[in-house]
Amino acid sequence: MSGIPAAVEIVEGKTRVLVPKEHTLKGPGKRLSGVFYNQQTAFSRDVSVMLFGALKFEGRALDGLAGTGVRAVRIANESPGTFEIIINDKSKEAFEYIKRNIALNELENCIPSLSDVRILLCEQTFDYIDIDPFGSPVPFVQFGIEGCKRRGILGITATDTAPLAGTHPGKCLRRYGAKSVRCVFGHELGLRILIGYLAREAAKFERGIKPVLCFYADHYFRLHIQLLEGARYADQSLQTLGSIGYNENSKERKFPATGEFEQIGPLWLGRLFDKELIARMDPHDFLQCKNRCIKYLQIWNEELDDLPYFYDVDEISSMLKISPPPLNEILEELRKSGKASRTHFSPRGFKTDLTLKEVLERVEGIAR
Ligand SMILES: C[S@@+](CC[C@H](N)C(=O)[O-])C[C@H]1O[C@@H](n2cnc3c(N)ncnc32)[C@H](O)[C@@H]1O
Repeated sequence: MSGIPAAVEIVEGKTRVLVPKEHTLKGPGKRLSGVFYNQQTAFSRDVSVMLFGALKFEGRALDGLAGTGVRAVRIANESPGTFEIIINDKSKEAFEYIKRNIALNELENCIPSLSDVRILLCEQTFDYIDIDPFGSPVPFVQFGIEGCKRRGILGITATDTAPLAGTHPGKCLRRYGAKSVRCVFGHELGLRILIGYLAREAAKFERGIKPVLCFYADHYFRLHIQLLEGARYADQSLQTLGSIGYNENSKERKFPATGEFEQIGPLWLGRLFDKELIARMDPHDFLQCKNRCIKYLQIWNEELDDLPYFYDVDEISSMLKISPPPLNEILEELRKSGKASRTHFSPRGFKTDLTLKEVLERVEGIAR
């Protein structure tokens, strides 16, 4: 195929997509060929399709770092609505894939674009902007905020989970201006540090943020954040930032943090999900990872996302020196005296408003 060496056609969702023959199957992905396609991140694209449907999205969207264009082409092909999507990448080879994938699905509302996304975002504005880079989104965030229309939404991926979740705290401090630590609930810290960073960057432009759907999966963080116009919203968002206290020895978590605890942050202490919107997201039969979508929708809906940390069944059991009880039994027991939920961050995790001391007592009670 001219301009596209060694491509194969696959179907993702209900969309035909031309991808490089050699592509990433799992994990953050290496650059195996000139153009990037990762089979595992189909789940993240399923979420985009469901989200556009739930939003009844109208207007102009941009997939700014599109690779083969798979996300935007799927959105255009699988989500109903009156909208236009500019599908952009700075690589000429990616641009060839984008054009082919639009043609393959006969999409009239998609426009291919070959540009540095930062230049595009200095010149044009959009109602939705997707930023899906290799690694950290930091180089693109300010451009995304400036290029986003009133009440527009930013969809952002970050695969630099190691710095954000506390494995490389120095890098996290330099890149996101926040302190992270390695701990059981590190992925939640990482996601909230990233949202906190977005809130501070948006505030510089007199804009606030409203997390619509922010989650962790596999090897990446994914944010969908609505921008709200004006200093009042910017101030409200900044007031939602703070720190979590964590005592590595006692494993106690506290928020807002106080004296004797190690302070982690600044990070976002507010909600992660707009649950009304999640309730409207439809796990269509044609989605690539339909069962996984159903499972995540259930957990996001139930999750106590106003609590910025979670506990882990194995952590609590090893503190008590007991064999781990089933998670469902723990949740049932905790709900007798407080709130408790599963969390999407970990299949072994649970959230509760009870103190660690109360959690230990209740779990020990089950084991007895
Ligand atoms: C992780 S891949 C995108 C994957 C794609 N969104 C998907 O779902 O398969 C990142 C892409 O960003 C492109 N890119 C990197 N820097 C860019 C820039 N400044 N402007 C536009 N595209 C850029 C790369 O060429 C690459 O195709």
